[in-house]
Amino acid sequence: MNTRITPKFVSGGKPVLGHTLEFRKNLTRLDQRGHSEHGDIFAMKLMNKNMAVVTGADYNKKFYLETDKALNISDVYSFLKASFGEVLFIAPHEAYMNQRPLLQAIFSRTKMVDYLKAMHIEIQAWLDGLGDEGEIDISAEMLHLTQAVAGRAFIGPNYRAELGETFWQDYDAISRAIDPVTPSHLPLPKFRRRDAAKQRIQERLKQLIAKRRQNPEAYDDLITQLFAEPKKDGQFMTDEEITILFMGLIFAGHETTAGQAAWNIILLLQNREYLRLVQAEIDANTEMGQPLDGRMMRALQHVYWAIDETARLRPSAPMQLRTVEEPIEFGEHVVPAGWLLRVSSATSHYQENVFANPEVYDPRRFSRERGEGNNSYNIVSFGGGMHKCTGMNFANNEMAVITTLLFQQFAVELVTPDPQVLTGVGANGATEAIIRYRRKALINERPVLETAVTV
Ligand code: HEM
Repeated sequence: MNTRITPKFVSGGKPVLGHTLEFRKNLTRLDQRGHSEHGDIFAMKLMNKNMAVVTGADYNKKFYLETDKALNISDVYSFLKASFGEVLFIAPHEAYMNQRPLLQAIFSRTKMVDYLKAMHIEIQAWLDGLGDEGEIDISAEMLHLTQAVAGRAFIGPNYRAELGETFWQDYDAISRAIDPVTPSHLPLPKFRRRDAAKQRIQERLKQLIAKRRQNPEAYDDLITQLFAEPKKDGQFMTDEEITILFMGLIFAGHETTAGQAAWNIILLLQNREYLRLVQAEIDANTEMGQPLDGRMMRALQHVYWAIDETARLRPSAPMQLRTVEEPIEFGEHVVPAGWLLRVSSATSHYQENVFANPEVYDPRRFSRERGEGNNSYNIVSFGGGMHKCTGMNFANNEMAVITTLLFQQFAVELVTPDPQVLTGVGANGATEAIIRYRRKALINERPVLETAVTV
């Protein structure tokens, strides 16, 4: 006899709506209340849908390692199809499995060397364009900078001309039309704008593919790699598949990286004691004007711990969902088929038995001695198992290069005292966060900023 029970519901549910309003308004508070009331598994109601939420390494691992057959990933994200097409895990399972080896090849270690060069060039160009001193909104800047990095890394040095002037505006129109609730075929202005933008982008990408097919030796970029390497079944990708995959990768990687990159800088500026360690490490291991190579990057331990701590405290992708196809057991609980199932950064990343003072910014928790990052399933920022983020190293390295070159060359302070999490449909980011900067070469010549870093 099966004596397992379904997860208990968090308090605060309303008639008909259930927890829908609080889910939209303050998911963190809702999850944390559920966890404190019922522990590592609890439930909520979104209109007529039941959703279970799990916490902690054991349950998160089970969530991530379950097969796509038992926990369906494509249904819950199907609202993205109208924007990007049947791509990555929203494609039918067989098509996804067929493309997977290609995805891994795109982010191989050898390719990362080229990506690092592209990152360095674009990030340095951004810093050169800042002038000697001024103020910028780091949230907006990171959105533009990550576009430039993706452009150069995936399309090559001529990416601006090749993608055309309207590419990112069009991408923005597509991104803004993402709507998990409204049927995507309704004749609404935002959906019309999305469809027109999608068509322009697809035409442009098809031209780029055609040029490369005619003269592949002249290019060494993502597109040439995508049509030169076979899928798992030995077939090669069609132009249509390459176009859709390209857009899917930009969607998966752009706002997510921009959000965490901005938070990484904000959190460092709010925690100047730790910033001093980062600064000393950058000064000791890098040289102004020299490209960052693998050896230098490996020496930037405090920088990477800061990036991990940002992922814990300000994850861009806190919502990872599945539809339960076959009942799944967690301890004495069972989540029935037909429910939604989710992991939660708001609870997993704040477990007191794993993270000392979880509310506190403390990147050294990831050091070997403290070992709080040893079980990677406690952190859900980049997912896990089969669907673990393929672009994780790309994103982490990009954030490391941004952080390193910025603090290598500029003294920076935070002007906006308390930026907040900005919740988006694609990814979370930060609200406006003005930083004031001054080029370090000038600091000895003129009076320094009041609180500038002058380590
Ligand atoms: C800070 C930046 C990023 C964050 C926080 C992030 C987060 C995530 C998460 C949580 C997942 C798993 C989704 C799930 O299981 O439901 C995922 C998957 C994925 N991400 Fe990222 N991502 C980031 C950057 C990137 C970049 C730069 C790329 C590529 C350019 C990328 C490509 C992908 C792909 C292809 C998948 C699907 C993997 C699969 O299902 O096989 N991501 N990402």
